[in-house]
Amino acid sequence: MAIADLRREYSLTGLRRSALEADPITQFKQWFDQATGARASGRVRSFFIRWYKALLLASGAEPLDLTAMTLATVDKQGRPSARVVLLKGVDQRGFIFYTNYDSRKGQELAENPQAALVFYWSDQERQVCLAGEVSKLPPAESEAYFKSRPRGSRLAAWASHQSAVIRDRAALEAKWQQIETQYAGQEVPCPPFWGGYLLSPARIEFWQGRPNRLHDRFCYTRQPDKTWLIERLSP
Ligand SMILES: Cc1cc2nc3c(=O)[nH]c(=O)nc-3n(C[C@H](O)[C@H](O)[C@H](O)COP(=O)(O)O)c2cc1C
Repeated sequence: MAIADLRREYSLTGLRRSALEADPITQFKQWFDQATGARASGRVRSFFIRWYKALLLASGAEPLDLTAMTLATVDKQGRPSARVVLLKGVDQRGFIFYTNYDSRKGQELAENPQAALVFYWSDQERQVCLAGEVSKLPPAESEAYFKSRPRGSRLAAWASHQSAVIRDRAALEAKWQQIETQYAGQEVPCPPFWGGYLLSPARIEFWQGRPNRLHDRFCYTRQPDKTWLIERLSP
């Protein structure tokens, strides 16, 4: 089948202005809970979700990587780059992810602290797009999260000079072994070049797929007085 012929209709549910929370972080958490199956709103919606989950379980599959989000950054020449990272927290300050501060994304964020994130939850027929300013988390917060990671990942954070060219896989594994020996019997500390970022959204859009590509889109834009303007966008 030709790539251009692969298409789907979006028909699970709609999104109404009256159903939106005044605060986009609350709205995001509600959609996230629905994506994990923790919450269902409306009888029709919950029927479809139960039905869909029954199909998934029958096929042995569960929705995966719900915290995966595409992070877009821009270098100082205005050239964009994007990659997937994992959401590790969301609160009234914004959206948190962890990475290597010296990576390509880290260098771009140092040059230009504006970034965008996109979530796509295909089984929910939903997308959330947001953008805003990015700042580093306080070191104590990054260290607390680092401690909670599996030991192998903590060693890998030291072993990987993320985004740099390496000779081969053997060189990477040798470095990991060397770090493992170095920290044998000890706690692995958080590297100074590794930590969290917080994206504080200035804009968040909630997208719900609808039949005939007449999708529902609502955009929250932060106002100078810190309230949120909610507007419907054309699909
Ligand atoms: C599902 C998934 C989750 C990922 N999560 C992270 C993450 O949380 N942090 C991270 O630094 N890289 C993560 N990566 C790897 C990044 O996509 C990317 O390869 C890496 O961060 C280097 O990006 P950069 O060279 O653009 O800085 C993830 C990749 C995938 C596919």
